[in-house]
Amino acid sequence: MNLNTITQSSADDFLKALPSEFAHALISDIPYGIGMDDWDVLHANTNSALLGTSPAQQRAGAVFKKRGKPLNGWSNADRNIPQEYYKWCRSWGDDALRILKPGASVIIFAGRRLSHRCICAFEDIGFTLKDTLGWVRPRAPYRAQRMSAVFDRRKNRALSEKWRGWRLGNLCPVFEPILWFVKPYAIGTTIVDNVIKHGIGGFNEHGLLRYFSNTNNLFEVNFAPDEKKIHPTQKPLVLMQALIELTTAPNQIVIDPFCGSGTTALAAQNTGRNFMVSDNCSEFVALARERIGSDLFKLASGKILP
Ligand SMILES: C[S@@+](CC[C@H](N)C(=O)[O-])C[C@H]1O[C@@H](n2cnc3c(N)ncnc32)[C@H](O)[C@@H]1O
Repeated sequence: MNLNTITQSSADDFLKALPSEFAHALISDIPYGIGMDDWDVLHANTNSALLGTSPAQQRAGAVFKKRGKPLNGWSNADRNIPQEYYKWCRSWGDDALRILKPGASVIIFAGRRLSHRCICAFEDIGFTLKDTLGWVRPRAPYRAQRMSAVFDRRKNRALSEKWRGWRLGNLCPVFEPILWFVKPYAIGTTIVDNVIKHGIGGFNEHGLLRYFSNTNNLFEVNFAPDEKKIHPTQKPLVLMQALIELTTAPNQIVIDPFCGSGTTALAAQNTGRNFMVSDNCSEFVALARERIGSDLFKLASGKILP
């Protein structure tokens, strides 16, 4: 496999085909396992209504595009979703450890509800959790249903009045956890020995300050005004560039086995790093290849955000 390529492959096949201890970072926005789309359903689906639309949801229009599972699940089998997510993370995580150089970073976007399972899986594989960072979005869809509206639809005025001001669901999700793991360096050596031997282990403060005005571990950043939305869970290019500059040096190699529209690859290209990325969906791979070929989103040398 060549550097700077976008492959169509499942994550585990892609990683298995790569050599050992050759990459400097794995930076990926992995499926969150919360059933936001077909590719995000990582458990045995025990209800055919998942990702469908109920008549009430159709009437509600754009707010409810797809039917998610209630937190309680639809059956007892659904209570195993967190454990199944743990196993899914382990199914490709062993090869992630193998292909990275000692001291290399793994930066993973994982959802608020199941990221703890990813942390346990990666610790059990042999990674060390270094920090949990956060992406703060200025805006996010607030989908919590009004209880009064639910009772209005049931034509129950008494309950609608009683529960006015209450909602079902979650608060507005403006925060997304970003897990920062490292592959341990050899016992009996120091991190500085590791930097000398493998060129990896520290973090690039000056690289980060090209994008943000401080070194806080919460990154408040939005999409650039002209940044085209190609993927339903796309991440801002500037955020991916900042994370790549934070953890790697120019010409080093960044891996992303769940690349979607190729944001990590484009960010690597823009910051002078090499990349090898893949996605198992042919449509996303085609979009990512097209995107890498265009200069549309190029931020030549990064910029400090307000
Ligand atoms: C959260 S999205 C990544 C979006 C990306 N951050 C972007 O900016 O476009 C995760 C991607 O993983 C892909 N995917 C899901 N399961 C996969 C698997 N087992 N192997 C490879 N790719 C997979 C999906 O097709 C989806 O595009």
